[in-house]
Amino acid sequence: MPIKIASPDVIAEAGAKLRAGELVVVPTETVYGLAANARDDRAVARIYATKDRPRFNPIIVHVLDLAQAEVIVSFNGVARALAERFWPGGLTLVLSRREASPVGLLLSAGLDTVAVRAPSHPVARDIIAAAGVPIAAPSANRSGRISPTTAEAAAEEMGGAVALIVDGGRSNIGLESTVIGFDGSRAVLLRAGPVNRDDIEAVAGPLTAPKSGIQAPGMMTSHYAPRARLRLNATEAGAGEVLIAFGPARDAAANLSPGGDLAEAAANLFAMLHALDRSGAETIAVMPIPNHGLGEAINDRLARAAAPRD
Ligand code: TXA
Ligand code: MG
Repeated sequence: MPIKIASPDVIAEAGAKLRAGELVVVPTETVYGLAANARDDRAVARIYATKDRPRFNPIIVHVLDLAQAEVIVSFNGVARALAERFWPGGLTLVLSRREASPVGLLLSAGLDTVAVRAPSHPVARDIIAAAGVPIAAPSANRSGRISPTTAEAAAEEMGGAVALIVDGGRSNIGLESTVIGFDGSRAVLLRAGPVNRDDIEAVAGPLTAPKSGIQAPGMMTSHYAPRARLRLNATEAGAGEVLIAFGPARDAAANLSPGGDLAEAAANLFAMLHALDRSGAETIAVMPIPNHGLGEAINDRLARAAAPRD
């Protein structure tokens, strides 16, 4: 498998490959991304092909900072305040594309907006700098499956389809970024994530729920799905089930956080689902997760993973 531990040489190689239109798996602090040069629509098309996306969901553009993002999209005052407070980090902002935006149209999938995020992972930042171009990257999983939080999990998802997988260690947040769009200057929560509602509202004022239609197109009900069935709000494992616990528990196959810490649970969520899924379990029972702070994002992902599949 083409996994290489991040080093100055490997980062330079990743930058050169990206500039040349090749795909590279890149570590970020949220989850691993399947990256391409955002200026190159043919490279972006390769992302959709490699992920088996059923349709063209829009893709997040990764930048180093607000200055690089301002060239791509127009910031309103609230968006700028959010970027100043939470970047670099797990917050994505969906904003109007500038007319002279340097990024290709395909990654917007027909919308007149572009999603932008400045990741904090030092390897992601070094690769963006080495590439010298903005980087389009969805999570490095096949469509509808769990986002990888390690290089090995990304390699398993991508198989031989990617020339280079850069190993930057385990994603320490483990949950995809919070996605915020705008209705005028009012912030709309499109996807719950590691930057939680209270912290965003402290900067942006009350968040509104998305009107149907402007919801993030990737937020299909059945998403983030393991192969196994999921049973939520379980108190214990039933016959033929394995249990993912939260808080003190006996006889659990895995425990998101024995001490009841939501950040630890978020970081463990996908890796534990993935491991139990690979163990061949038919049903994974999951104990209830409190719905405050990061719990909102964890419960969102669990509900999608448990939703009926088509
Ligand atoms: O943490 C993350 O966000 C990771 C890492 C790699 O940065 N990326 C990620 O990408 O989770 P992806 O493609 O799996 O999810 C991006 C989400 C989708 O729900 C997509 O629909 C939404 O962002 N999105 C992207 N561009 C959008 C746009 N222009 N308008 C509305 N939603 C958009
Ligand atoms: Mg994804």
